[in-house]
Amino acid sequence: SDYIPNDLESISLEYSCKDKYLRKDARIAFEKMAKEAKEEGFNIIAVSTYRSYDYQEKLYNNYVKEKGVYYADLASARPGHSEHQTGLSVDVADSSLDYDNFESTKEFTWMINNSYKYGFILRYPKAKFHITGFKYEPWHYRYVGNDIATYIYKNKLTLEEYYK
Ligand code: DAL
Ligand code: ZN
Repeated sequence: SDYIPNDLESISLEYSCKDKYLRKDARIAFEKMAKEAKEEGFNIIAVSTYRSYDYQEKLYNNYVKEKGVYYADLASARPGHSEHQTGLSVDVADSSLDYDNFESTKEFTWMINNSYKYGFILRYPKAKFHITGFKYEPWHYRYVGNDIATYIYKNKLTLEEYYK
């Protein structure tokens, strides 16, 4: 509950809403990805990145209050169980900042086809709900480094299957 990564760095405002932090390697990779996407005409913006235990607790409790514990556990990790606390995960959107609508954007397609080259994987794919335990999140990417991301992408795996 008191874990805070010791190398969090803030992401350039060109590619994030304000005060968004990732661990150093993930921050560098994210900015490189967003910069090269932008050069091709795609705006990838980080809308949620590192989240503290306390913040995740608020988010989770809010889901429970709004939709009940069953739905909450499909959509939100419990505090202490979110990869957002690792500082290696990022929720992305296009310039609208509406991550809920991300799947219908051209940026979504760009991310699906290119993110692995920068070390990011789509963490909760639609067809893998029975393995990840979380409902499909078109916006949630996890930094695992280029080699593992490429292996996972080419073999259509999840992180769970990779580690098995
Ligand atoms: N929405 C993802 C599963 C999280 O809360 O970490
Ligand atoms: Zn997320």
